[in-house]
Amino acid sequence: MRAALLIVLGLAIGIIGTVFAMNALRERDPLPKAVMNVMEHHIGELKQAVKRGQCEAAASHTRLQQMYMASLDVEPAFAGTEPDFLALAGKLRETLHGAAQAVPADCPALEATIKPVLQACHDCHQKYD
Ligand code: HEC
Repeated sequence: MRAALLIVLGLAIGIIGTVFAMNALRERDPLPKAVMNVMEHHIGELKQAVKRGQCEAAASHTRLQQMYMASLDVEPAFAGTEPDFLALAGKLRETLHGAAQAVPADCPALEATIKPVLQACHDCHQKYD
């Protein structure tokens, strides 16, 4: 009984500690939000391009490269966070590294390219945002 209580207490302290740490990291500087908003901007433009049916290969390629560059700042921006977070940041970076090599010739190709990127955003937000 006592051991169970201690485990519950330990878990609670762990959760509270994580929330505190994440909040402290968020308040420290504007970089985390800045990085996120840069990526949001570019993925938003790519989604719009698909919607409009105007998917110019060179323009998409440039944006994907810009997103990859921005993703390089996710880890440093949130430095010191837990391994799970860093793994999800690494996943985004890898996905974008691949996507940035692509020169999607048309809208279906662009849509297929951004799908795993959006999934990588989602996977981290689901847990941390
Ligand atoms: C490894 C984790 C992780 C990944 C991957 C990630 N995000 Fe985030 N994102 C966060 C966290 C944590 C916050 C909350 C940041 C804060 O409040 O300071 C956030 C917040 C945001 C915000 C809100 C920013 C604001 O001004 O409050 C946007 C927009 C955003 N992310 C877009 C994206 C996009 C687009 C992608 C994918 C290209 C992405 N994120 C991938 C962790 C991640």
